[in-house]
Amino acid sequence: MSYGLLEGKKGIIFGALNNQSIAWKVAERCHEEGAEFILSNAPIGLRMGELNELAEKTGSEIIGADATSVEDLEKLFDAAEEKYGKLDFILHSIGMSVNVRKGRHYTDMNYDWTAKGWDISAGSFHKILQTVWKKDLMNEWASILALSYIAAQRNFPDYNDMADNKAYLESIARSFGVYFGERKVRVNTISQSPTPTTAGTGVKGFGGFISFAEDMSPLGNATADECADFCVAMFSDLTRKITMQNLYHDGGFSAMGVSQKVIDRYTGEN
Ligand code: NAI
Repeated sequence: MSYGLLEGKKGIIFGALNNQSIAWKVAERCHEEGAEFILSNAPIGLRMGELNELAEKTGSEIIGADATSVEDLEKLFDAAEEKYGKLDFILHSIGMSVNVRKGRHYTDMNYDWTAKGWDISAGSFHKILQTVWKKDLMNEWASILALSYIAAQRNFPDYNDMADNKAYLESIARSFGVYFGERKVRVNTISQSPTPTTAGTGVKGFGGFISFAEDMSPLGNATADECADFCVAMFSDLTRKITMQNLYHDGGFSAMGVSQKVIDRYTGEN
């Protein structure tokens, strides 16, 4: 169902790889709500992905950019300015840990990989914010979002250095949010339930993670489609005074100690 919430709004969506990606669902919903946007991904993501299909479906242009490269970002945002003028929304839906991908334990990190994973998952958010800040590219009441995970606050086995990256990512939203406030632009992170995507399922034991979260969350896990709905709300004019927040979109998981379902499993009643 469309409410026309993003009629006339222009933006950039980073991180749609395939039709499982959260960014893919966000792009579909933003299109339904009347937004126009550029789709961006790293050159390797463009080769691996199915982005052309999404671009056709949403009438969008694809512009590749390695989000860790300020030079690539400058080119991308210059192209966006030429196409649209100022922007109304940006989604950062980018994450990768080389240590996780290569099975390197938290107590035995390869620090070159740690630095690379930080740059992709957190540093890139600062680079995007700083690039649009310097170019003064956001309209008043624009909205900038990045996707996070509760491992920034609580420990989860095998989330490894992604936990640290997410903590840093959330902190960037708070820190840069102050400056963007001067320009009436909001900056937030959404802390999403575990979601079966390429990045999600790359974490060891993901099946256990997602089932546990489902049993712990009074409303059940939030899906990628539901995350897209929330992103639309956050890009719309209905949420103008929300900024510098980490917003849990997790069916209540973050407020739970333990659920009856999980207790029953331990007492053998289920
Ligand atoms: P995904 O694998 O579909 O998306 C990750 C994207 O990051 C891919 O499109 C990939 O090409 C892109 N990327 C990697 N390196 C890049 C670079 N150097 N420059 C530009 N783009 C680059 O997976 P998903 O799950 O949709 O991930 C999106 C975001 O959601 C990530 O930040 C992830 O940490 C976050 N998230 C995911 C959860 C999950 O369980 N899947 C839960 C909570 C947050």
